[in-house]
Amino acid sequence: MQFDSLKPHIQALLQNQQLARTEKLQQLCDWLRQEIPYYDWVGFYFANHENKTLHLGPYAGEATDHTVIPFGKGICGQVAESNQNFVVPDVQAQDNYIACSFTVKSEIVVPLFVQGKNIGQIDIDSHVLDPFTEADERFLEWVNGEVSKLFKD
Ligand code: SME
Repeated sequence: MQFDSLKPHIQALLQNQQLARTEKLQQLCDWLRQEIPYYDWVGFYFANHENKTLHLGPYAGEATDHTVIPFGKGICGQVAESNQNFVVPDVQAQDNYIACSFTVKSEIVVPLFVQGKNIGQIDIDSHVLDPFTEADERFLEWVNGEVSKLFKD
């Protein structure tokens, strides 16, 4: 996957003054899902640090029941506490995993930092087994770096 070729479009989208932040994130999810063949579900969760819960934001793909996830629960909830990327090559091998659909085989979650604080995450589900490489991690860290600029004002 040539991730670098996707970056100019993402920057243009996130800098589009005509769109509200939620619209930008929605279009980003739709576009990543469309462009990257093994990204089957793409979404953002945002943290409520008082309640220690994650809340589903914009997403592309199948509707999910998991709109609120407690910190510590599932892959997403673990990333809320660890502040680290979590790559799951095979979801069936995970004990602390929240299944969304039987078609999902793998998952990657990358935290979203704004001024050093973990405010949420980007979550990708794939129908392919073990598709994610370090290139996905670096790319999604870059995406979140761009997204974090939307939260600075
Ligand atoms: N599988 C996730 C739950 C969220 S869905 O993938 C949309 C988890 O274990 O945290």
